Amino acid sequence: MLPFIDLASQRARIAGKIDAALARVLAHGQYINGPEVRAFESQLAAFCGATHTLANANGTDALALPLMAWGVGRGDAIFCPAFTFAATAEVAPWVDATPVFVDVLPDTYNIDPASLEAAIAGIKREGKLRPKVAIAVDLFGQPADYPRLAEICRREGLKLIADSAQAFGCTLDGEHPMHWADATTTSFFPAKPLGCYGDGGATLTNSEADLAAMRSFAVHGAGSDKYDNIRIGMNSRLDTMQAAILIEKLAIFADEIRERNIVAERYRQMLPNAVKTPKVIAGGVSTWAQYTIEIENPDNLAAHLRNDGIPTARYYPKPLHQQSAYRAFPVGAGGMNVSDDICKRVISLPMHAYLDEATQEKIAGSVRGFCDAGG
Ligand SMILES: Cc1ncc(COP(=O)(O)O)c(C=O)c1O
Repeated sequence: MLPFIDLASQRARIAGKIDAALARVLAHGQYINGPEVRAFESQLAAFCGATHTLANANGTDALALPLMAWGVGRGDAIFCPAFTFAATAEVAPWVDATPVFVDVLPDTYNIDPASLEAAIAGIKREGKLRPKVAIAVDLFGQPADYPRLAEICRREGLKLIADSAQAFGCTLDGEHPMHWADATTTSFFPAKPLGCYGDGGATLTNSEADLAAMRSFAVHGAGSDKYDNIRIGMNSRLDTMQAAILIEKLAIFADEIRERNIVAERYRQMLPNAVKTPKVIAGGVSTWAQYTIEIENPDNLAAHLRNDGIPTARYYPKPLHQQSAYRAFPVGAGGMNVSDDICKRVISLPMHAYLDEATQEKIAGSVRGFCDAGG
């Protein structure tokens, strides 16, 4: 079976550097809060034009920490897309707030600004919840429509989070999501475009006050020192080993994003017209966490490709508002028609910076064979 995401090729490229970085950590022994953590935080902030980074334990904590810092809680509505990974919505009930689902756009799969406006209006009309936060997800690698989202959030008095777990490094008109968002979050889960060798995450902010509050929440609500607890917090840190790995991976990340875009363009040219290939927002640069196509029989295509030794994945066969854990939460006025529709057809092909043309031709040829045989 071909790899779906080829971490081994990336490892081969920088093995010497990573091994040396890990040896340095083993030599100094500061496994928690070592110098690599602070160095990585500064480098990550510089990469995406943010003032501050708080490195933390995973991309889910990264979303929860700004909510905690802003005092979001009971009676507050957090708007998020229905077509995303569970972590995006999960953090709302964590802080006792309510996720309100918003539909996505049929071409980019990112949160639909018109659906967000309708959802906010509906919640205000009902009068039970206070609209507080919108979480936009940069799904599959590409930026959401931040100029419109930021305008809506400013007008409605909402905080805006960019959940860039799948898309850290993406840009819109040359700007990173941080240009518009109050906080940007990411995940360093190994399969993400910028991943480590375990779990990790980060929250980026331009606010010194938010950074201070989040740092406190991430260390058990610490005040002036570790044994002065002024908040009910949590334990959410990025290990020094992971920071050391990420410093080496960040050094080649811009190059990998370029490579991923070359691979995506080749897919676009190679795949048959019978499949719908992805569309990136005008002015956007995707980091291509996934290369997701639409086809009428995705499960049959998956079986056909598997026969040819090609793995696939289905992100997402069931949107969140249909999941048993989330069914009771409100959906925005206007419904979830697009999310309900696209989930039936989406299927993702192998995608990574080290996918060569011959391998892609094999994959595209197999898709063509499936379509020629009538799908
Ligand atoms: C959109 C999105 N948000 C948040 C997360 C959570 O990241 P983590 O798995 O590091 O907690 C993920 C991870 O899969 C994700 O895809």
